[in-house]
Amino acid sequence: MNTEDKQAKLDTIASKILDRSCGLDIAKSCLNPVPGDGDPDAQLLFVGEAPGAQEDKLGRPFVGASGKFLDEMLSTIGLRRDDVFVTNIVKFRPPDNRDPSKEEIDICLPYLLSQIKIIQPKLIIFLGRHSMNVFLPELKISEAHGKVYKRSGMVFLPLYHPAAALYNGGMRQTLIEDFSKIPKILKSLTTK
Ligand code: URA
Repeated sequence: MNTEDKQAKLDTIASKILDRSCGLDIAKSCLNPVPGDGDPDAQLLFVGEAPGAQEDKLGRPFVGASGKFLDEMLSTIGLRRDDVFVTNIVKFRPPDNRDPSKEEIDICLPYLLSQIKIIQPKLIIFLGRHSMNVFLPELKISEAHGKVYKRSGMVFLPLYHPAAALYNGGMRQTLIEDFSKIPKILKSLTTK
């Protein structure tokens, strides 16, 4: 599929998310749905948990403090936000930043699966345990972070969530180190 066709298909999914027709309460209560955005041909797809207050305000993923940290880490491996695709499992802000419910995850998951199918990323990077556990339910983030997992034709790299790592020195260092492995992982996947 060429880039324009991919973008058109991603736009169709985004418009379904934006029309709030899924019936979830959070789809009605949020300020702005957050479909996710980035390069339709991205090799890297980042998946967070759900939009926070800033994301809800602007309708874009990872634009608050954790997004700034994500951008900093991307720049350490020579990438900008436009070079990757960033989204969340749940596309609407749960009130008071509570964890998304199972129903919210189940209803939103087909959007993400469609996005994955269109983008065909080489590597899917989970930001935090919540998104990891949707695809890899048996894993603990304290053990799985920075390791590559292959399942159902997809390749996953779980990382600590930037918001959790931001103010925790040890976790922050670990996240930065795990992040620095991405180019080598990507290279090993593209040369196969
Ligand atoms: N945290 C997330 O998991 N996703 C966002 O988009 C922002 C913060």
